[in-house]
Order: sequence, then structure tokens, then C-alpha cells
Amino acid sequence: MDPIDSYVVVKAHIFHQMQIRDISMKCLPITYDSMSMFNLLIQNCSYIVCVDKIVAGYILCDDTGVICSFAVLPEYRKKGIGALLINAASKHYSELKLKETWLHVHVNNNVAINFYKKMGFTVLKTVENYYDCFKDTNDAYRMVLKLEPVLETPELEPALKTLDETILKSKPKSDHVATL
Ligand SMILES: CC(C)(COP(=O)(O)OP(=O)(O)OC[C@H]1O[C@@H](n2cnc3c(N)ncnc32)[C@H](O)[C@@H]1OP(=O)(O)O)[C@@H](O)C(=O)NCCC(=O)NCCS
Repeated sequence: MDPIDSYVVVKAHIFHQMQIRDISMKCLPITYDSMSMFNLLIQNCSYIVCVDKIVAGYILCDDTGVICSFAVLPEYRKKGIGALLINAASKHYSELKLKETWLHVHVNNNVAINFYKKMGFTVLKTVENYYDCFKDTNDAYRMVLKLEPVLETPELEPALKTLDETILKSKPKSDHVATL
């Protein structure tokens, strides 16, 4: 597994829409249409990871705590990028004072289910016929992650900001919580 030397986690903007769409079409059976994606991006809760100026993965989120779409390009997987994206979204939601974030995942998507479990998600329930595009089953798991409240410590904010910037520059594989 090669480490990533140069990467950055940034808020996704509407001008990233084409790159996000390309990744989604390569990685997922369902891609949001342009208007739905635009409506999500303007909620300002989504993130991308760029590796050497290439968008390697994205997490598309709404402002109520729902992770709507999430993928990392195959050649960049298993390097900690997925964890970076989940942590960036979780931190943002904690700052919005949300208590949990949740998503749906196809019941047979074992890689993603194991990934989410590793990130602390648990299965809340099975939603029957959630999808309409799979041949075997269209059932999904609804998975939820309880979020830690953000401490209200304005006097510590300058120090925490410095810490965040330092962590952002560290390599993703060195610490999966390092996104923030
Ligand atoms: C799910 C996905 C986003 C994970 O992204 P990623 O960048 O590879 O994930 P990470 O490298 O951050 O992995 C974090 C942990 O998840 C687990 N994991 C990730 N991929 C795994 C795999 N293929 N097999 C087993 N465990 C895996 C590991 O425990 C890993 O930690 P470790 O490497 O320290 O053991 C990626 O596999 C993907 O894009 N899949 C296709 C799209 C998809 O299914 N999206 C979810 C739709 S609900």
C-alpha cells in the first residue's frame, strides 16, 4: 500500500460537480442528477480529497446529517482517503451540533459495510426495497454514527486551529482521525 505524499481535504463546491459526477459514475450504480447534486453542494456540507491536484474521492452530504453519496476512485482506495472524508463530514456535523450522521448502503456491499463499521457506524435497521436498480436484492442497511459534541472553548480556538492545520498536513495513513 503506497502512502500518499500530497493531499488536501477541502469543502466541495459547485465547480467540483463534474469531477464528483465522474467518480460517482465510475464507482457507484446510482449517480445523482445535476440538479440534485447542485442542491446538495450548495448546502456546503460536502468534501473532496485531492491527491496531486486530482480529485480522488468525495463525500456528498446534506445539512441534516445524511451522507447521500460517497466514493473513492479505485486506484486511491485503502490509503485512508475514505476515512479522511468521513471524519471531515463528521466534524462539520458536530460543529452544526448534530447528534448523528447516517446513510444507506446496499446489503451486499460488504467492503463499504465493513468500512463504515470500522469508522464506528452501526446498523440501525434494514430498509426493504430502498433501491430500484439491483438484480438480486434492493434492500439497504441504514447505518448511523453517533457524533461527539464539540467543546465550547473559545479561548482554546487559536491553539486548536494550529493543531488542525498540523494534522491536515500529516499523511492520512498515519492517523485516520487526522482529517480535521
Ligand atoms: C467504501 C470506500 C469509500 C472506502 O474508501 P477507502 O479510501 O478505500 O477507505 P480507507 O482506506 O479509508 O479504509 C479505512 C478502513 O476501512 C476498511 N476497508 C476499506 N476498504 C476495505 C477493503 N477493500 N477490504 C477490507 N476492509 C476495507 C479497512 O478496515 C480500512 O482500514 P485499514 O486500511 O487500516 O485496515 C471505497 O471502497 C469505495 O469507494 N467503494 C466504492 C463506492 C462505495 O461502495 N461507496 C459507498 C456507498 S454506500
